[in-house]
Amino acid sequence: MKREWMTILEHQTIARDTYRLVLQGDIVRDITEPGQFVHIQVGSGTYLRRPVSISDFDFEKKTMTLLYKVMGKGTEDLTRKSVGESLDVLGPGGRGFPVDQVDDDHVLLIGGGIGVPPLYNLAKQLKAKGIQITTLLGFQSADDAFLLDEFEELGEVFVSTNDGTLGRKGFVTDWISEVKATVDRYFTCGPTVMLKAVSEQLADLPGYISMEERMGCGIGACFACVVPSHDEKGYRRICCDGPVFEAKEVVLA
Ligand SMILES: Cc1cc2nc3c(=O)[nH]c(=O)nc-3n(C[C@H](O)[C@H](O)[C@H](O)COP(=O)(O)OP(=O)(O)OC[C@H]3O[C@@H](n4cnc5c(N)ncnc54)[C@H](O)[C@@H]3O)c2cc1C
Ligand code: FES
Repeated sequence: MKREWMTILEHQTIARDTYRLVLQGDIVRDITEPGQFVHIQVGSGTYLRRPVSISDFDFEKKTMTLLYKVMGKGTEDLTRKSVGESLDVLGPGGRGFPVDQVDDDHVLLIGGGIGVPPLYNLAKQLKAKGIQITTLLGFQSADDAFLLDEFEELGEVFVSTNDGTLGRKGFVTDWISEVKATVDRYFTCGPTVMLKAVSEQLADLPGYISMEERMGCGIGACFACVVPSHDEKGYRRICCDGPVFEAKEVVLA
């Protein structure tokens, strides 16, 4: 991981409490897989860095797009950063989706809320390989929805909202039984409860999950991000063994 002061090129609201941040710097050239993250020092060092997934990137322009939702002090402080300012960024971190190893005809992407962003560049790379994509997107409400047009350009999209203000009323997982027969593999990111439901409903398919739980150091040293695994080792660190895992690798509690 590299540490760099990256320049803010764009910063705007795209949905309720949700922002799009475009950063420029050399870190972009080190990205190897979709689904990796950067670790941002938002304040003046008084609190830990905050992890945010790389939603999209452009090697030529050395830019990366991050989409984040305001959850607490760190992300609230981030909203006050302006275009032209620099951000202290560590990255890219972790293992992403191993897109080079995927050779399927048709895959399913399932994103819940702020778990949607890392699936976007993945979808672009899968599409570029000629793989058909079906995407399920779930949000709390229409006001929280984003990236719909972008995913629709890449394949078929089914949307659900908890309150029924956009798409079907209910959970994103409600769509699975209708689409699972045609897909070879799945990729998902969202709250752990959603990942668990997805992996149970798609237990007979290979799949990759991206876990966006709490982090500390972000570099493998503090064990703040540990999740239990099914093997003898007994655990994985989200920051360096993940955030992307094979679905059968980790125990989703
Ligand atoms: C690998 C990784 C990738 C991530 N990618 C994104 C992303 O692309 N976009 C995005 O908006 N967020 C992402 N997150 C989550 C983001 O890091 C947290 O929302 C952020 O750190 C919260 O900081 P805060 O200071 O604003 O909130 P805090 O004050 O630290 O927390 C506010 C509230 O949010 C809860 N919370 C904080 N972090 C998380 C979390 N990771 N999961 C669930 N609840 C949490 C806390 O329990 C608390 O209730 C990612 C996390 C990880 C580990
Ligand atoms: S955040 Fe410190 S080991 Fe993962």
